[in-house]
Amino acid sequence: MKKKRKPNYKLRRNIAKFILILLIFIPIIIINKTKIVNAPLYFTYREYSKVLDALFEVNYNNKEVVNIITDLKKNNKINDSTDDYILELNNKGYSHNTINFILLNLDKKDITKMLNNKYSKDFEEYIKLPLFNYNKYNRYLSYQKKNTNLSLEDVTVQIELDLDKEHYEDAVLEDNPDSITALVNKHRYLDEKYEPSDLVDMDDKYANNTYRQMRIRKEVYEEFKKMVDDAKDDGIKFYAESAYRTFSFQDNLYKEYVVSYGQAKADTFAARPGYSEHQLGTSLDIANTWTIKEDSKEYKWIDENGYKYGFIFRYKEKNENITGYKAESWHIRYVGKDAATYIHNHNITFDEYYAKFIITKNKK
Ligand code: DAL
Ligand code: ZN
Repeated sequence: MKKKRKPNYKLRRNIAKFILILLIFIPIIIINKTKIVNAPLYFTYREYSKVLDALFEVNYNNKEVVNIITDLKKNNKINDSTDDYILELNNKGYSHNTINFILLNLDKKDITKMLNNKYSKDFEEYIKLPLFNYNKYNRYLSYQKKNTNLSLEDVTVQIELDLDKEHYEDAVLEDNPDSITALVNKHRYLDEKYEPSDLVDMDDKYANNTYRQMRIRKEVYEEFKKMVDDAKDDGIKFYAESAYRTFSFQDNLYKEYVVSYGQAKADTFAARPGYSEHQLGTSLDIANTWTIKEDSKEYKWIDENGYKYGFIFRYKEKNENITGYKAESWHIRYVGKDAATYIHNHNITFDEYYAKFIITKNKK
């Protein structure tokens, strides 16, 4: 019988070591190679430009960087004048991130304008903000001039909400009205025909149905009932005096107010048809025999607890410049628990919440 050969363990161990080394080093080599080959890609990455960093750190002496520039030029990502812009913007004091942003987003005319203007620290700050939109930059600047108390972030938020425009000027259609976080205000309106598909009748226990049957969206009703029941346990009573309103109901209501008070006054407390949140089926006017007042225990309870059920007071005195309405201590809006909790904790309006989170989300 043939004698079985003893395996060469030493050789096997060495092969294993060699494979291990290859496994560690090959990815490193590949990553580094890709970095150089794909370098122009960094140029399109808004937040940071390794290309620009490389340009300045090595002063064009490094062969790799020369290759990167050649590559960028070959792919028409930069040209000779860009080279000049980079240096001039750098001399003005702009960070590499800002220079990268400028080269990617501004045309020659605007870059020349930037070069003729003084260095702007604000510009560097603006471009880092989530809502920054270069097309609105001039609007930011004039709004900022008129509202010097605002932070740059607030400026971008308020411009996103078109607060630099007149009420109803260039108003946009809310095209996602079924969303619990749909926004309707003096700059966003609803289609005349819009009616939520899940309206339910409210029970007499929760609403005053004497003049007409109150209706509201199902989800809103479920949370409203819980809130009313829990409030009752704390000795607080309230019910809905007004809930969903059709476009034509709001139309009549608004017209009556205009006849009684004149349009300018009516506009401070009544929404024009299509511009009322009541048409969303997510808002309620609440009462306890009389309409709820701001200094009442009912107002205080809802202000402190409503967010746990997804409700907020939509029109507060300190926010009149944002909402465009005089404070209403009876009008509550259901926005869902997440939004309501954020709004409650950060003491902001729903409009601002919408600009910060819903518009940003839709953009992505
Ligand atoms: N009173 C509120 C603003 C409305 O009419 O919808
Ligand atoms: Zn109301």
